Amino acid sequence: MHITPEIEDRIKRLQEKYEAMGQDMSSYLDGLLYADFLTYWDYIHLDTLLSLQSPKTPLPDEEIFIMYHQITELYFKLAIHECKQIVNHEALTVEFFVARLKRINNYFEALTNSFSIMVEGMEKEQFLKFRMSLLPASGFQSGQYRMIEIYATDFINLVAKDKREELKDASIEEQFEYIYWKFGATELSTGKKTLTLKQFEKKYGIIFIDLGKYCSKRNFNNLLAVLKENGADTAALETELRRFDTQVNVNWPLAHYKSAVRYLHREPEEIKATGGTNWQKYLPPRFQKRIFYPSIWNPDQIEEWGKSWVENVLSSI
Ligand code: HEM
Repeated sequence: MHITPEIEDRIKRLQEKYEAMGQDMSSYLDGLLYADFLTYWDYIHLDTLLSLQSPKTPLPDEEIFIMYHQITELYFKLAIHECKQIVNHEALTVEFFVARLKRINNYFEALTNSFSIMVEGMEKEQFLKFRMSLLPASGFQSGQYRMIEIYATDFINLVAKDKREELKDASIEEQFEYIYWKFGATELSTGKKTLTLKQFEKKYGIIFIDLGKYCSKRNFNNLLAVLKENGADTAALETELRRFDTQVNVNWPLAHYKSAVRYLHREPEEIKATGGTNWQKYLPPRFQKRIFYPSIWNPDQIEEWGKSWVENVLSSI
């Protein structure tokens, strides 16, 4: 067998690599000799992935509901993967920030554009049946969704809008008590915390507070301010942040709201949500005015937040 100079070079480099760690290269070569070839299905754990759908009912459309939630959580994981790279960067530049934000924006656009899989893709009769076997679970309990928000902005911007001024200098723990979503999840009849909320806080409360503290000096809003202070040209970054703010706080919530309207709207009385919220008052973005970057929008845009979009969505149902 002819050993080419390229192979000789690789063997030499491998030898150096293993020697540096006090390892015997030939044992590792034996490992290569006996190891199986990698397959696509093992590499991406396909069998495991395809075994993760466990419907609670025999209604076929429930699988669509489960899978689309799983797909969404994977996209959220992709977004968080990029968020971490931004907030942990040791010498962050506008270029890097913009490049990573574009990825996140693409993920959210894919999610917004695919939401018709929920809105049009299930039979209402089946949905209204299988949802009863999911009580009190709700997408409201998506921890990753809330983590993206914590990476994105100062914690105070996630506080319920009428409490923001009062709590602007408060600790993360105090602000957390008034985070916007707690107000959504109160029982319609009694005003008490829903079980959905209690369980969510039990699992994620400390994680959210710790992440909030970790991000207090390095969330996206803060990083934008630091780059500006250092004299960087942030125009391209602000464009991408506007896109991000619109995607996460208007477009996705509206695509999602449309599915709530499609399945839960009924005259004269709305159908109760699985998480027990007053969803018509809670879900539309114009009521909560969640805005990650108030400083890059003008007062009219803030005043009009989500309004025209809501009208478009509702008129198309
Ligand atoms: C037919 C499809 C869907 C319907 C009817 C629906 C309905 C609702 C309702 C009524 C709420 C308010 C909380 C509650 O009382 O349960 C909610 C919240 C939420 N859902 Fe969905 N949902 C659907 C699909 C999804 C999907 C696919 C996801 C993806 C993870 C998701 C994620 C969320 C999130 C993150 C919240 C909290 C929103 C916020 O706090 O502003 N939902 N959903």
